[in-house]
Amino acid sequence: MDGEKLKVAFFDTKPYDRKSFTEQNRDFGLELVFYESRLTAASAAMAEGAQVVCAFVNDELDRAAIDRLVAGGVKLIAMRCAGYNNVDLPAAYGRIEVVRVPAYSPHAVAEYTLALMLCLNRGLNRAYCRVRENNFSINGLLGFDVHGKTIGIVGTGKIGKVFAELLQGFGVRLLAYDLYPDREAAEKLHLEYVPLTTLYRESDVISLHCPLTPENLHLINRESLSQMKDGVMILNTSRGKLIDTAGLIEALKSGKVGSAGLDVYEEETDYFFEDRSDAPIQDDVLARLLTFPNVMITSHQAFFTREAMRNIARVTLQNIVDFTRGELPNGICSQCEGGKCRHCRKKR
Ligand code: NAI
Repeated sequence: MDGEKLKVAFFDTKPYDRKSFTEQNRDFGLELVFYESRLTAASAAMAEGAQVVCAFVNDELDRAAIDRLVAGGVKLIAMRCAGYNNVDLPAAYGRIEVVRVPAYSPHAVAEYTLALMLCLNRGLNRAYCRVRENNFSINGLLGFDVHGKTIGIVGTGKIGKVFAELLQGFGVRLLAYDLYPDREAAEKLHLEYVPLTTLYRESDVISLHCPLTPENLHLINRESLSQMKDGVMILNTSRGKLIDTAGLIEALKSGKVGSAGLDVYEEETDYFFEDRSDAPIQDDVLARLLTFPNVMITSHQAFFTREAMRNIARVTLQNIVDFTRGELPNGICSQCEGGKCRHCRKKR
């Protein structure tokens, strides 16, 4: 591909994606083509003529889509996000390279999680709506002091650690669970690594910051919920499928779960990022979830800051340029958990 202008087909784009990538591309000079459609097996043919596709969290890069991309001559899938649970890595392996943006702003997501926790606890979303309707009652808006509470963080990678850092000023006890505990962070951030069962039993707030993997699908389910404190607050700014939503709804109805702040939802694909205000919601589970006064749902926007958007665009475009030079520093593969093994880091 030396010397030739590389064509990149972007899927599932919104005006803010186009603006951000077009601005940053001034320094890279690639040919960018933007599509609004999500990338699926059915839409993959639109990438024909492009050497690279750029995809996002709700694109469906299953085996059928990857087969179509490979047949159309696409050599690289550049994910413009950190998570890659929507890419069938075994199907990609050895046929098409996959890169991602491992870190663009852990602060964006961690700060958002904190905002969700505080807003949900004190009912700011409801208070705002009430006052706009000249309803100045504070009935039903009773919250709790965060000070003195126990907060359980599941996944202490980049985002989990920043979240723990932000909580330092609150006077809370921090429990943590991770497959690979970070002893240095534990000391610096006063994190106590405990088994999941202990974290469930002792936490007043549980916040999820681990990636979605086949092993932790529905990590929060009827069984794990039953182990938690009555009235626990659950926060999920990671991936929707970490929570079995039907189980969560039951626990919300019984009062077992006191509140839930969700920036992701397990079946978000058809709704999140879209304006669906002119049609009934067909997803009954989502519709039920939206009825709870103690549930705050947002549309996968924790990442959405100016700084993160700029970093996403720059790292993605740099990933593509590195690929043309035979380098793959942010490559991921099916041989490890991502970005760790020689396959991920190999020179092509
Ligand atoms: P990271 O890779 O730095 O950290 C993830 C941590 O989770 C690692 O320490 C890992 O060992 C741990 N982990 C993996 N499986 C686990 C399990 N089963 N139980 C407990 N811990 C486990 O990732 P980072 O940057 O902190 O992001 C975390 C997740 O946040 C991403 O995977 C992504 O799904 C989500 N995310 C959501 C965004 C949003 O806009 N809502 C934006 C960016 C990321």
